[in-house]
Amino acid sequence: MVNKNLYLLGFMGSGKSYVGKHIAEKIGWEFCDLDAVIERKMQCTISEIFDEHGEDCFRQIEHQCLKELLLTKKTVVALGGGTPCFHDNISLIKKRGVTFFLDLSVDVLYERLIAETHKRPLIKGKSVSELKSFIELKLNERMDCYKKAHYIVSGPDNSINRILNIRSFYIMN
Ligand code: S3P
Repeated sequence: MVNKNLYLLGFMGSGKSYVGKHIAEKIGWEFCDLDAVIERKMQCTISEIFDEHGEDCFRQIEHQCLKELLLTKKTVVALGGGTPCFHDNISLIKKRGVTFFLDLSVDVLYERLIAETHKRPLIKGKSVSELKSFIELKLNERMDCYKKAHYIVSGPDNSINRILNIRSFYIMN
């Protein structure tokens, strides 16, 4: 596992970027947010890609950008919420690093996403009740894929330290 990346996966609002930045800082690795890489490369926002070209096109771009990221080393990568569930992304990611699924309940995700329905493409314009059912449905749909991660970090508390404490993680350093 030496020199391989650390990948964080999980639903929107699960804290992949927040947790990833802190872990990278603690271990002196680079941090990279796949959504930000896509936006830089395409010179537009994720929402604009969804609006102008649709989700299928976004998933193609996401897959290409992921493949470029797989070549980096000693990088903590926050994936997009859907990244592991499309194409053969999950197996590619697992070959190139250690994967952690940030596993949060529907209620926690809902509380975190409720104020963000205007800016995230998949939940844009959803009412409060629509949002809750959407999270339940999508999370359920994606769970089998998320659970393919090497490690599952359940609940919102102390995830940074829990990830840092996982033994094999130290072996990578
Ligand atoms: C998506 C999650 C988003 C972004 C895009 C699609 C998803 O990333 O990639 O809007 O399918 O769950 P975050 O999980 O970083 O919000």
